[in-house]
Amino acid sequence: MERTKEMTVIEKDWGKFVSLPISDKLKYFSKNSRIYDCLFAQQFDREILEYLFRISNTLRRITKTKEGMNFASSLLDHKRAILYFVQPSTRTFLSFLNACHILGIKTSEIRDTSISSEYKGESPEDSIRTFSSYVDLIIMRHPTPNFVEKSAWLMNRTKRPVPVINAGSSKDQHPTQALLDIYTLYRSFNGEIDGKTIAMVGDLKRGRTVRSLSYLMKNYKNMKLIYISPKEFAMEKDIIDFLKKNNISYYETTDFEEGIKEADAIYMTRIQDEHDKNGESKKVDYSGYCFKEKHLKIIKKDAIIMHPLPRRDEIDVKVDDDPRAMYWRQERNGMWVRAALMAYIFNVDSKIHIENNP
Ligand code: NCD
Repeated sequence: MERTKEMTVIEKDWGKFVSLPISDKLKYFSKNSRIYDCLFAQQFDREILEYLFRISNTLRRITKTKEGMNFASSLLDHKRAILYFVQPSTRTFLSFLNACHILGIKTSEIRDTSISSEYKGESPEDSIRTFSSYVDLIIMRHPTPNFVEKSAWLMNRTKRPVPVINAGSSKDQHPTQALLDIYTLYRSFNGEIDGKTIAMVGDLKRGRTVRSLSYLMKNYKNMKLIYISPKEFAMEKDIIDFLKKNNISYYETTDFEEGIKEADAIYMTRIQDEHDKNGESKKVDYSGYCFKEKHLKIIKKDAIIMHPLPRRDEIDVKVDDDPRAMYWRQERNGMWVRAALMAYIFNVDSKIHIENNP
């Protein structure tokens, strides 16, 4: 770890550490000037993003042959990872699992605390320490705010630290989803993200994907964001403040049709009702925030439609056949970019002959 004196004092006190500004924390989660624990979208600058995209492109090309796949799966065949996913997941879980397998990383998993020792009263903190006795990487999804970060903080204070990757933390962040989303934009627009208008639609208040993706916008020039949501689910103030501070142009609207017309990418999201305290989602009329077949006629000819998935009825299945529907490709992009990230974290990227093309 790259630790300063100041950090060694603060690192002992989680309460103090957690309230530091992100910019002060980042160095604590890096090693040899590289991302070590992947926790926040703010860890990615443009250079690292574009580098990861090139690794992803190379991996997806070389693994088309048995020889290439054998090479990729030899890169990290001396490593083991645990997937600790105690919130529901299909894609993120499977894409990480398969990304591990592409690189040869051996995997184990805990998905249900009712059959792990947490059921016997073990704290999640002790569970994390236990994982590090057996594996070299912890990939985790957790419902408790800041717990993924706390796990990385805890690990970095032990004698056997292992990197932690955030695969979805409460309502706050989902940095590797943002990574695959921006990779999808990069591929869809032939490497030209600057100047694009991105509409984010739905439950912006509680969706961690739109929060993490918003943070990435600071890496690009002349971006414009359109936040489209019912007023109850408007984007939180911390993200709006971030946009203002970084001079990222944006506007907020409740008018779906108006908002999607001028967008180059339309990012749909579902209602995040698992965060309801008193069934508040039921009181919100979400029907106006669904992409129907008729909307294909009003969006730009070369716009793309994205969704982190799973979907309910935010995108009509009739939209799936339109060439602008990008969500299934987006899902597959996640596996490649997660493999690239792990190759980078474990420093084997230098062994991959990386291509330059977008
Ligand atoms: C998202 C999540 O878990 O935040 N799903 C995913 O990881 N692809 C979005 C969602 O569940 O709505």
